[in-house]
Amino acid sequence: MFEHVEMAPADPILGLTEAFKKDPNDKKINLGVGIYKDEHGITPIMEAVKFAEEKLFQREETKGYLPIAGTDDYSIAVQQFLFGADSSIIFSQRAATIHAPGGTGALRMAGELLHKISPKSTLWVSDPTWANHKGIFSAAGLNIKTYPYYDEKTKGFDFEAMIAAIEKIPEGDIVLLHGCCHNPTGVDPTPEQWNAIAQAISDSKLLPLVDFAYQGLAVGIEEDAIGLREIAKLCDTVFVASSFSKNFGLYCERAGALTLVCETPEVTQKVLSQLKTTVRQCYSNPPAHGGLIIATIMNDEKLRTDWEAELAKMRERIQHLRELFVETLKDLGVQQDFSFIKDQKGMFSFSGLTDNQVQQLREKHSIYVVRSGRINVAGMTSSNMPRLCNAIKEVLE
Ligand code: LMR
Repeated sequence: MFEHVEMAPADPILGLTEAFKKDPNDKKINLGVGIYKDEHGITPIMEAVKFAEEKLFQREETKGYLPIAGTDDYSIAVQQFLFGADSSIIFSQRAATIHAPGGTGALRMAGELLHKISPKSTLWVSDPTWANHKGIFSAAGLNIKTYPYYDEKTKGFDFEAMIAAIEKIPEGDIVLLHGCCHNPTGVDPTPEQWNAIAQAISDSKLLPLVDFAYQGLAVGIEEDAIGLREIAKLCDTVFVASSFSKNFGLYCERAGALTLVCETPEVTQKVLSQLKTTVRQCYSNPPAHGGLIIATIMNDEKLRTDWEAELAKMRERIQHLRELFVETLKDLGVQQDFSFIKDQKGMFSFSGLTDNQVQQLREKHSIYVVRSGRINVAGMTSSNMPRLCNAIKEVLE
């Protein structure tokens, strides 16, 4: 049965980590996968998370199954995080949230549900988008097309082209948006542009699906939700796939959520019932630990304040690294202008490095970058910065 099976290609992002781990060079640098590293090159466990885990350990009494959708504590915490604690969307019960295994699990459940309910709808993704989006949604059976997003010339957002494309998308199709910290470019719309995007999506009668994996890592928790909140204000229906891997540092706990907002609570409950059937068929019910940690932090004033302060430090450190990277390249006499990296948000930037330069970085310097040239700024440290920038200088020459 399996003799003729071919080797699948390595994953463009996680496959790099596998190669990185095997590399014997003790000066190797991994700027591939989007994980945050501290100044010692370690992905730390946040202190608020450790405190929450201690609390949970003391009071845990069972390892029984969670309900298919997860717990209400978690669902409400997620909705408050997304829409604001006093949002009318929450009070009117138009929102329902399931605890999904990671942001990827949430996206896949959204894909499965949408394909079940509306199999002819096409899903539109930004060009470029996260390397896994197309795989997730095509595996769920959806047809995928792209809309323009990134302007290679300005290294910025091509707002006009995106709006023009949205206006032409057929009614009933789905538009995938990055809530903030666009992956892979680090280029986000302004609040005014978000308003226009939301209006265009509403006018064209499209379903917005927001992939929200970096809330709190661009400008701040509330500020980063501006795009989503504009969309929820102008569109009756919106789906949100949340990931808490980055902003809580809970990568291996697979803490994600899928939130549905429909026109009325009745419609929401019906759609939720279909989603629960899909979950039952895919993984039955969610893993508990990550959601318990998040709900514990969100419902404890002190832990929440501490977590917000830790998140702010992460955000500020990434911004500092962006500036240091640009300055170090400049000080080394690199002619190419990298200043746009300072203005981009979140973990990633599209460096402009070519496939060939990326290969050279890996082969000659044990520096791992995604082939598209996307770099994870949060993987830099001030101590590896000179080595990194010297290597970039060399491959650019
Ligand atoms: C990334 O883009 O590097 C992260 O979202 C991790 C992943 O699963 O690809």
